[in-house]
Amino acid sequence: MTLEAASALGIDVVVLAEGPEDSAVALAAAVQFGSPSSADALARLAAACDVVTFDHEQLDLRVLQALQDQGRAVHPGPVTLQVAVDKAAMRTTFAAAGIPVPAFAVAGQTVEARGADRVARMMAAVAAFGETYGWPLVLKAGRGGYDGRGVWPVAGPAEAVEVCRWADDHDAILLVEEHVTISTELAVLVARRAGGEMVVWPAVETSQSDGVCREVLAPGPVDPELADEAMMLAQVVAQTTELVGVMAVELFVTGGALVVNEVAARPHNSGHWTIEGSVTSQFENHLRAVLDLPLGDTALTAPHVACVNVFGAEDGSDPRDRLAGALGVAGAHVHLYGKQARPGRKLGHVTVCGADAGQVRARAWAAARALGSAGGTADVSRVTR
Ligand SMILES: Nc1ncnc2c1ncn2[C@@H]1O[C@H](COP(=O)(O)OP(=O)(O)O)[C@@H](O)[C@H]1O
Ligand SMILES: [Mg+2]
Repeated sequence: MTLEAASALGIDVVVLAEGPEDSAVALAAAVQFGSPSSADALARLAAACDVVTFDHEQLDLRVLQALQDQGRAVHPGPVTLQVAVDKAAMRTTFAAAGIPVPAFAVAGQTVEARGADRVARMMAAVAAFGETYGWPLVLKAGRGGYDGRGVWPVAGPAEAVEVCRWADDHDAILLVEEHVTISTELAVLVARRAGGEMVVWPAVETSQSDGVCREVLAPGPVDPELADEAMMLAQVVAQTTELVGVMAVELFVTGGALVVNEVAARPHNSGHWTIEGSVTSQFENHLRAVLDLPLGDTALTAPHVACVNVFGAEDGSDPRDRLAGALGVAGAHVHLYGKQARPGRKLGHVTVCGADAGQVRARAWAAARALGSAGGTADVSRVTR
């Protein structure tokens, strides 16, 4: 999707892909193969580009730092990524900057010797947190999680100890958080240039089931004052993290107030709706920001926009075989990512824009279902697992 935006602007992109099956390879004019964690691969990429950017965070920050130290432009930079990829650093940095976050504690560090003692120490920290905030709690791996992987709501100590063992086995940093009673999950996208110029998109509602985003509604159905506050907080987060590029800021509405859950320092699933639903898409503004070009208008193109993710159907069938059904739905903008179909895998999304909130939502779900699996019903649970 970034390549599509780059093509329109005449920007040449060199893609670093792990293998020929990566979806960007089919669209890229120039491809290099290699690991995003390899210093050599990144040095080769940087030598061919004016700016290095990325669409996922499975990176080695030391390698990026070394590139930057050699005078290469890396956007967003390692300072931003350090916060985005490490949930403990994120919570600590935001709390220090006065940004509201859920109550949390770091229950286990990776520097401690592994084994039963470490599990017991983690468990003691989790239990002490439970004494203060009450059960259930949410445990999280400090790094590497996405789509709900690495997030475990736990009802009590028996479940928590299993997670502590997992964290010990995987040498993971373990975070413990209060289980927030969420009335709405919001996401706010923000784009920022190096000089500080920022644009922010309207706050959207995201609905997760099993920790995976199923549906995004723009604008989010919340009080306008709360939406404004979310947009303001996202800009504070972008400034605090010295963002250059696009960032998605995920927030919880709880008891009528906002807390920041997490950020992604890249174009994000919660912003796919912007391709048709906003004057400027997140992908285009990401390119503009990292190339230090003027940022584009973030206004909605219609009063309501709904975006529903498409997941691989249980029978493993390819959604491309069902395209006609989805395109028969009025106003459905279908995006398939060219990934190998597997049951439950996120393979694409559908966006519908229009005047009526109920209608755009119903159409987006109908088209996503026609493609195979929309991963649940329109009444998706807001609680993970
Ligand atoms: N402290 C919490 N209280 C209640 N629900 C939570 C909490 N943290 C996460 N969740 C739920 O789990 C989902 C995934 O958690 P998140 O931290 O965003 O991880 P990921 O990196 O997998 O997106 C969230 O969107 C939310 O629905
Ligand atoms: Mg998340």
